[in-house]
Amino acid sequence: TIVGIGKAIPSKVITNHDLERLVNTTDEWIVTRTGIRERRVVPDGVTTSDLGFEAATEALRDAGVDAADLDLIIVGTATPDMILPATACILQDRLGARHAGAFDVSAACTSWVYAAAMAHGYIAAGLAENVLVVGAETLSKITNWRDRDTCVLFGDSAAAVVMRPAPVGQGFLSFVLGADGSGGSLLSLPAGGSRAPASFETVERGLHYLQMNGREVYKFAVRCIPRAIASVAEQAGIALEDVACFIPHQANIRIIDAAAERLGQPREKFFVNVERYGNTSSASVPVALYEAWEEGRIAPGDLLILVAFGGGLTWGACALRWTKAGPQTAE
Ligand code: ACO
Repeated sequence: TIVGIGKAIPSKVITNHDLERLVNTTDEWIVTRTGIRERRVVPDGVTTSDLGFEAATEALRDAGVDAADLDLIIVGTATPDMILPATACILQDRLGARHAGAFDVSAACTSWVYAAAMAHGYIAAGLAENVLVVGAETLSKITNWRDRDTCVLFGDSAAAVVMRPAPVGQGFLSFVLGADGSGGSLLSLPAGGSRAPASFETVERGLHYLQMNGREVYKFAVRCIPRAIASVAEQAGIALEDVACFIPHQANIRIIDAAAERLGQPREKFFVNVERYGNTSSASVPVALYEAWEEGRIAPGDLLILVAFGGGLTWGACALRWTKAGPQTAE
């Protein structure tokens, strides 16, 4: 189960009106098509591991777990500090987690859910007791700020949780992970890997920026979220009516509305903060979880379903029985 949680939100705000000065767009278009009003971005020089470190430090403090007692650090990110070493290793060093293994998970916006599933597996198998699971992104670094199709959508942030063993029936109950690599080209960052190593040409052609077929990703998301939620609920043996709160990936308010409608669930049960942060990829679900907890929307004993989708294409969901007291009552 989750015994500690933390987040890191950059202070710099970019509003839709700021973007009106950069590209041919309007606040009205962005709000009606996406629900986003503003997003946060890191200043120059601040990296994904910096945000991850801040979120991890809060999560460890909240959990009352010493970094030296961590067995494993898993970072979900699409914007690692660099290709090698893993961002998780950079965090391991900075945190002083000298007994922890550390690696990154790359499943685009689904990375944190994949990482939480792995942490659950390690703990359930008795291979680890204290696992730090981080979702951290600086998407502003791979965003083409002259491309209105994408630059209005993304933002930077991080969140982290500490997971520990719990009795069966408490904490995570089930996971569903999926992928459809045939849709990989719908959302990609083409250059910088072995297929198109960095060169003057790749930079000239803007291939180090995120490229997306928004309409197709939208259709995929609207199909896959309700399916993933229904299937993870079935695996956990719970009815959707008994779920207190759904925490979906925050990409577009219309995707969340459509999922609620398809599932026949009240929209108020879906936690939403997309208007403030935009899509922060793997940080999106754990930041939303943090804020739902912080705002008192979830209480110990509540059933939750977390769900994400993203590039790959990938998707993932988990059902959990929340066990942590609210921030007001927590020590
Ligand atoms: N401002 C003004 N007009 C715009 C903008 C903009 N920022 N962006 C696109 N348009 C225009 C288009 O050019 C198009 O014009 P046209 O009709 O003359 O061709 C028109 O608006 C409509 O474009 P659509 O793409 O049909 O708009 P849609 O309603 O589908 O919304 C959006 C686009 C917001 C991208 C939506 O498709 C979406 O949210 N898709 C999912 C994206 C997503 O979730 N991606 C993240 C996946 S997670 C990960 O792994 C990172």
